[in-house]
Amino acid sequence: MEKFPKHVLSSDQFSPEMIEYLCGQAEDIRAIMETGKKRQLLGKLHGMSMFTVFYEPSTRTRFSFEQAGNVCGMHKCSTENAEITSSVSKGENLEDTVKTLSGYYPDVFVLRHKVKGAAKRAAEVIDEKKKNVHIINAGDGKGEHPSQALLDFYTIWQAKGRKLDNIRIMFGGDLKYGRTVRSLARVLAKYPGITMTFVAPEALQVAEDIRADLDTHQIPYTLESDPMKAFPEADVIYWTRLQKERIEDERTRIELEEIERKGTYNIGSPQLSVMKPTANILHPLPRVGEILHEVDQDPRSWYFTQAENGLYIRIALLLELLRESE
Ligand code: NCD
Repeated sequence: MEKFPKHVLSSDQFSPEMIEYLCGQAEDIRAIMETGKKRQLLGKLHGMSMFTVFYEPSTRTRFSFEQAGNVCGMHKCSTENAEITSSVSKGENLEDTVKTLSGYYPDVFVLRHKVKGAAKRAAEVIDEKKKNVHIINAGDGKGEHPSQALLDFYTIWQAKGRKLDNIRIMFGGDLKYGRTVRSLARVLAKYPGITMTFVAPEALQVAEDIRADLDTHQIPYTLESDPMKAFPEADVIYWTRLQKERIEDERTRIELEEIERKGTYNIGSPQLSVMKPTANILHPLPRVGEILHEVDQDPRSWYFTQAENGLYIRIALLLELLRESE
């Protein structure tokens, strides 16, 4: 297997072999956790430290990273709302913040930022200073969210009995401003035999760079605006919320509010009734109305398992990244 990257910036850095290796590790970690033996993991990263610096809100990503660190015996320093509670509110730029914090000897620096490319900038600062710190991109604006792609992949792998041949993945919702679909599509593009359907209003369709990536890997995909046409064919349904916080254009915002009012992109009983009995419904969460609560009772809903998988895969990722520094 190739060497894991020093910094986790894009899902594209992971080969299928690396990802499946992490999934296998995550399965073992899940078994340890589920049988109440989590103290077995405590010594694994004892004495190492993690900084979580989040400039955007988060529930799952921050807690699962921090808990992954806790379970393995790491120490952590954390800034939620970094824009308000760190020196950024005084006008400090990202580079200066990273330069300063990297001097305090963290082993891992988990960064969530509003601006696309922020994690890459942080990694450049670290490398320039020749620091032995791993940057993990925990979401950079409408760029990427690679550790989410790992947990999404892990969930699909689990749901489909580790076989990803000949499956059709349907992505729906806000595919333009959401970063999770971008990262997951990049990972799945490395699996020949997968087909993809991107279902979104025209203003929110998946961006050109992702389409180009799929073309390069010769992955067949279709673009659709009517979810009801795509549900019956889908083996995996990956749903997302409208990323209202990223939509600046007033006309698009009004258009989206209308879509929201009509519920065209909602999943409820009528949508469930046309899906395959073997389909799996995923969502990175938070959901804000686009998956109705009645769906939670359906065995095809996998989004809370998916969120839980975030802990296992992030433990596996930390153990792998920090293996050589032990
Ligand atoms: C996603 C994100 O932040 O991109 N959330 C998450 O990390 N699970 C999705 C979203 O906010 O819609």
